[in-house]
Amino acid sequence: MQTTQGPGDAAHALARGHLAALPTETVYGLGARADDPHAVAQVYAAKGRPADHPLIAHVRDADAAWQWASTVPDYARALAGAHWPGPLTLVLPRSPRAGDFITGGQETVAVRVPSHPVMRDVLTRLAELTHDPAIGIAAPSANRFGRVSPTTAAHVQAELEQHLSDDDVILEGGPSSVGVESTIVDCTGPAPVILRPGHVTAEDVETTTGLPLAERSDVRAPGTLASHYAPEAGVTLLAHADQLDTVATDRGARTGLLALADVATPAGLVRLSAPESPEDYARVLYSALREADALELTSVLAVLPPSDGVGAAIIDRLQRAATR
Ligand code: TXA
Ligand code: MG
Repeated sequence: MQTTQGPGDAAHALARGHLAALPTETVYGLGARADDPHAVAQVYAAKGRPADHPLIAHVRDADAAWQWASTVPDYARALAGAHWPGPLTLVLPRSPRAGDFITGGQETVAVRVPSHPVMRDVLTRLAELTHDPAIGIAAPSANRFGRVSPTTAAHVQAELEQHLSDDDVILEGGPSSVGVESTIVDCTGPAPVILRPGHVTAEDVETTTGLPLAERSDVRAPGTLASHYAPEAGVTLLAHADQLDTVATDRGARTGLLALADVATPAGLVRLSAPESPEDYARVLYSALREADALELTSVLAVLPPSDGVGAAIIDRLQRAATR
């Protein structure tokens, strides 16, 4: 496994069927070419991920994305027009391009056009190398199954180094700017359904499509499990900062605190992060949870941000991190 390489090396590794851990604006992904069952199998092995959990195909642009789908409703085109490249994944009925080995055998496929310039460079080079403008990179978050997603190349290295081979590559692209995984929207029905909240909010989806969100989806999104994104430290959620004093006094010194900057740190707690805004909170969330483990804290108290905007995604991830 090599870390000192550039986008060209990552594209060559992918073209030859090896893996590349790649920066995206949401979190780092562990990529394989999405048309190569053997390469994709290596992704599942490195992550320790169950084979029926489908992967997102990352592509260069919307034209490429539509090649992976058999039908694309107008509202999905509107979402792509407004939010691609960016932190939005669309679930669509699959075309023959999308093999069972990336869809988990489902009749749908998840596609995303990422905005990170390094990721886009790799996609362009891979399209050239393979002479396929619609080539996809199948990439789950580059963490071991059920663990916290990585937002830096160093996180990926710490987490997956032992599970990658000499031919695989970890590409440096700086810290992820969004920090939580993409919003996933099921576009297989008459109206959009949010399967996983993210930086693109429910309000954004309703505004862009002009449609009220549907509540129920027939689509299965394995991996959106109750327990996920979990550090070693136990995570306790507090809806309000004023609960902090009562809870905090019950605990020993090995307790971390994650809360917006306007929440003061009670004596005895280790402040993990003091984000200034919900966007900052999303950006630092996973590195703060990793920091708790690095400091060998036994527990983390997380004061939830307001539930509007990206707050919904932060609360979703913290709830899963708190579930055992
Ligand atoms: O931001 C992201 O989406 C990151 C970066 C790397 O792009 N990727 C990511 O991948 O979070 P992963 O595999 O950790 O999560 C993808 C989620 C899983 O919950 C999976 O079940 C769901 O997407 N998914 C994938 N294909 C699907 C499909 N055809 N139908 C429904 N859900 C699907
Ligand atoms: Mg993941």
